[in-house]
Amino acid sequence: MKHKKPWWKQPGIQIGAVLVAFIVIGGIIGGIFLTQTPPEQPIAFPHNRHVGIGASCLYCHAGATLGPSAGLPGIEKCWGCHQQVQKQSPELTKLAGYVERNEPIPWVPVAIQPEFVRFKHSPHVNAGLQCSACHGDLAKMTVAEAQKGQNMGWCLQCHKSSAPEQWTKLSDCATCHY
Ligand code: HEC
Ligand code: HEC
Ligand code: HEC
Ligand code: HEC
Ligand code: HEC
Repeated sequence: MKHKKPWWKQPGIQIGAVLVAFIVIGGIIGGIFLTQTPPEQPIAFPHNRHVGIGASCLYCHAGATLGPSAGLPGIEKCWGCHQQVQKQSPELTKLAGYVERNEPIPWVPVAIQPEFVRFKHSPHVNAGLQCSACHGDLAKMTVAEAQKGQNMGWCLQCHKSSAPEQWTKLSDCATCHY
């Protein structure tokens, strides 16, 4: 006689449990990133001083108008300036070390959404939104700081107020979730 599997081993239930675990873990990871502000970075990169010399956000985060990710600058971009800037400092010695070893700098992300969220920079930036609307004023920060409360309600609230004519699409679960 064929044994019936107990209810918790039924395929549908197992997939459901995996999904729930995925969402809970995603929430916890999101929570950790939102509460540790800001994490220790491998180099104390001063946004304020770079923005101060006139470097634009897009010079270092060029992906923001082109596609989903804004991207981070590679060591070649840093070194393009810093092999000419004469200044010596402990932080710049660390930078020189990464360049010498030809090793990417392991930056710790602070602006991050859970895996199950679909966010693309280009439609937002090309609609005229400033970086500061979502990331705060980087001209006042050294390393980037996580912004609090950037949850589903935050996305929906801005969609409702800034693009009411597209509300049907911009409030559809499938627009933001895979
Ligand atoms: C457009 C040129 C330019 C680029 C690109 C650039 N920097 Fe700088 N950086 C500067 C200048 C100019 C200063 C200011 C020097 C000063 O204050 O005397 C500076 C300052 C710094 C300092 C502070 C130095 C100190 O301790 O006083 C660090 C650290 C630094 N940069 C790291 C980086 C890293 C890492 C990158 C790549 C992600 C990078 N920089 C890219 C021009 C640049
Ligand atoms: C409408 C809100 C919004 C605007 C406007 C925006 N961002 Fe973001 N940014 C986000 C969100 C949300 C994330 C996290 C995305 C993820 O984890 O999928 C993020 C992530 C990032 C990251 C790290 C991950 C990546 O995409 O490389 C960088 C760097 C960044 N943004 C830079 C910028 C810059 C520069 C601008 C302006 C040109 C900008 N952002 C405009 C919301 C925004
Ligand atoms: C000279 C290059 C440079 C410029 C100019 C610059 N950034 Fe950055 N940005 C970096 C580097 C390097 C990091 C990684 C270190 C950190 O998190 O601060 C970073 C990180 C970030 C992050 C967090 C990314 C993540 O992975 O979570 C955001 C958001 C961001 N920058 C936004 C901006 C905005 C907005 C501007 C313009 C006001 C700007 N940046 C200008 C180099 C730059
Ligand atoms: C500061 C306002 C603002 C915030 C915050 C915001 N959005 Fe948007 N979003 C917009 C606007 C405006 C559009 C419409 C852009 C256009 O006209 O194409 C849009 C469009 C979109 C689209 C459709 C893009 C496409 O391919 O057409 C997606 C997906 C999206 N947003 C996801 C998100 C997610 C996920 C978040 C939160 C993590 C978020 N947005 C936060 C203003 C915002
Ligand atoms: C405008 C973008 C957007 C739309 C539309 C959207 N969501 Fe979300 N959702 C998010 C973001 C961003 C998160 C992650 C941050 C958070 O947990 O609030 C999230 C998280 C979630 C979570 C996990 C909650 C948690 O506590 O971890 C569930 C479940 C969810 N969404 C379901 C839905 C359903 C169902 C719909 C349609 C009715 C929907 N979402 C529409 C952006 C969106």
